[in-house]
Parts: sequence; C-alpha cells; structure tokens
Amino acid sequence: MQFKTKVVPFTSANLHCSVKRHALLGAALATLCLVSGFVAPVSAHSTQPEVSMPQTAPHHLPHVLVLATGGTIAGKADQRSAIGYDAGGVGGKQLIDGVPGIEQLANITVEQVANIGSQNMNDAVWFALAHRIQHAFETHEADAVVVTHGTDTMEETAFFLQNVIKSKYPVVLTGAMRPSTAISADGPANMYEAVKVATSEQAQGRGVMVVLNDTIHAARWVSKTSTTDLQTFVSVNAGPIGYVDPASVRFLAPAPQASGPVFDLTRLHDNLPRVEIIYGHSNMDARQIDNAVRDGAKGIVLAGIGDGNASTEALAGLDRAVAKGVAVVRASRVGTGLVNRNVEVSDDQHGYVASYDLNPQKARILLQLLLATGVTSATQIQAAFGNGLY
Ligand code: SIN
Repeated sequence: MQFKTKVVPFTSANLHCSVKRHALLGAALATLCLVSGFVAPVSAHSTQPEVSMPQTAPHHLPHVLVLATGGTIAGKADQRSAIGYDAGGVGGKQLIDGVPGIEQLANITVEQVANIGSQNMNDAVWFALAHRIQHAFETHEADAVVVTHGTDTMEETAFFLQNVIKSKYPVVLTGAMRPSTAISADGPANMYEAVKVATSEQAQGRGVMVVLNDTIHAARWVSKTSTTDLQTFVSVNAGPIGYVDPASVRFLAPAPQASGPVFDLTRLHDNLPRVEIIYGHSNMDARQIDNAVRDGAKGIVLAGIGDGNASTEALAGLDRAVAKGVAVVRASRVGTGLVNRNVEVSDDQHGYVASYDLNPQKARILLQLLLATGVTSATQIQAAFGNGLY
C-alpha cells in the first residue's frame, strides 16, 4: 500500500492538552488482530438492520481520504508527568501506519490539515476541511473521507461539516480517548473502524458521522458525555445509528431519505459571525449578556437551566439584546431532553428561538450559519431549527 502524505500549512499551535486519567499507562501494548472486510449491499427498502459482511480478498478498493487534525488520537506521553500527554504530536501517516489490516479496507491518502488539540479548533480549520472534502467528492477523488480529530470538540466539527457538505459520500470523524503511547490505546481500533464504516456502501447518504468505540453516531445527535470513558460519545435523545466491529458494519435503519438544510459554502466566505454561549446558573444577573451585546455579538445562545430558562434579570438582558437586533436562542445546560417553544418561557412574547434537540454548542453553529446567510428573523431562525423531529 502506498500512503501519500501532504502537509497543508497551518499556523495553529500545538498546545498542551489537559490531563486525562487514562493516559497513565506508558508504552503501547494493543496489537490489533482485526479481520478485513467490505460490504454486501442491502436493499434500500429493507427495514432490517443493514449489515455489511466481510469478503475475502477485495479486488477493487475504495479510495479514502484521511484528513488529520490532531487530538488525543495523535497524542504522545508527556515525560514530565505520569498521566499527562500532548494532544496532536503524531502525524496522520503515523496513525495509519499503526493500524494493522487497514490496507485491506481501502486505498488511503493522508493529509495533515492541522495538528492541534481540539480545544484550539477554529473556523479556519473548519473551512479548510469543508473545502477539501467538498472538492474531493466533487472531483471523484475520494469515495469517503475520514477526519481524525480531538474528542473535545469533535461533535461541533461534525455538525458544522454536516451543515455544509453536499454529497452522498460519507464523512466519518474519529479520535481517541487515550493517546497513541498509552497501554490499550483506543486510536488504532477507532481508526480501523472509521475506515470500515466509511467504506461501507450503507454509509452513503448518511452525511457526517462520528465513529468511536464500536459505535456509529449521526452528527446531529452525538455529544461527548464523559471526560474519561472510552464510551464517551452518546447520541442523546436519539441513540446511535449503528455499530461496527472487526467483522461487520450494522446500521440500525436505512439511510434517511432527506438530510437537513445544507448551507452553500461559497456564500459563507470562510467567515462566521460572532455568537456567544452564555451559561445559566442560580443568582444570575444580565452582565454577561449585556457585555456580549456591547462587544458586538450578533447572536446569543443561552445554555439555560432546565428547559432553557434563566432568571428574571437575565431574561431582561436577553430582551434588551433582542431589541438591538441580536438573535437569541434558548438551549439547555442539562444535556438531554428537548427545549420546546413556549413552555416556561414565552418565546412568542420575548422574540426568542427554542433550540429543541440542539445542545448549546450545536445551536451556536446553526445560528452562525443562518446569520451568515442573511437569516435573521426569529421566525425564520426557528423554522431552520425545526422541532427536534429528524
Ligand atoms: C482534544 O480534544 O484534542 C483532546 C482530547 C481528546 O482528543 O480526547
């Protein structure tokens, strides 16, 4: 197998990652004995779980473009500490080289788009990824894309890409909870399974997915729920869309007939307006809200208490924001459950938008995309947020 690695210049710095308890265990131990496999298509009308069974000696391998961005999957142990590590120290090609059997799944090209901990993920990397992926699909250069990424903001990058990539071809984000130098590093297995899912014909039409720890999630629903567990990603309010193991890829339902709205990348001009997330708490006043408006925020997402509520003072601050033309979306800090319209807070009276199924960090991205494309009225924004039924 030939790996082609192209380093795309990028200026973001590699920063020291926060310590994770699982990083404590020195040198890599896990050697994966994974069975190679590829796909047996299942009827599009089937209501059964869709299963891809392995074949021996695949003749025509799909082309997978791997775009590496850093994160713990590319992390190396920090000599200064027994449990610390630096996210984003290992290059994308090295990651692939450490995955036995992956060459049986696909012809793989690796490009290093960034090498950062995902706490430093930013609009520049998002747009670089989006343009690269769209180009690879439009020119038939790749049948699928796998993005390696830190887990901390993976759900945000996945959701951004879901909203801007227009293609039937799958994009799979993967990462790791343990650095590549840890005993029982999970990165190699996650990488293998990400490519396995990406090359499954059943993955087509499903948009952007996150694959970690044998589980397949849709970008809209997935969220990081544990600081340390390998099973950190959960599709809250919905459940995963499938499972993957060394022998098979199983989707729980056929691909959806229609995806959500896709924003035209060319209209975004690689630029997203400023939207702040403000966290609700007891004894809350309006200072953060007023400051955000004064600082030029075009939108505010309230990570509200309960079903997206806030104190009387904070709501008065949000009303002042609305009066100045700032879009206000109510989401919740709770983590599961929907934020419905007009329950404890009258969105109709205040001119707010309810986030329904979107958590604050995803509500922020959707609001940015809407504002960037000239959608500013609460009614239009609410229509784009939908009602949580997807
Ligand atoms: C990061 O998000 O870059 C660090 C944490 C991780 O990848 O799990």
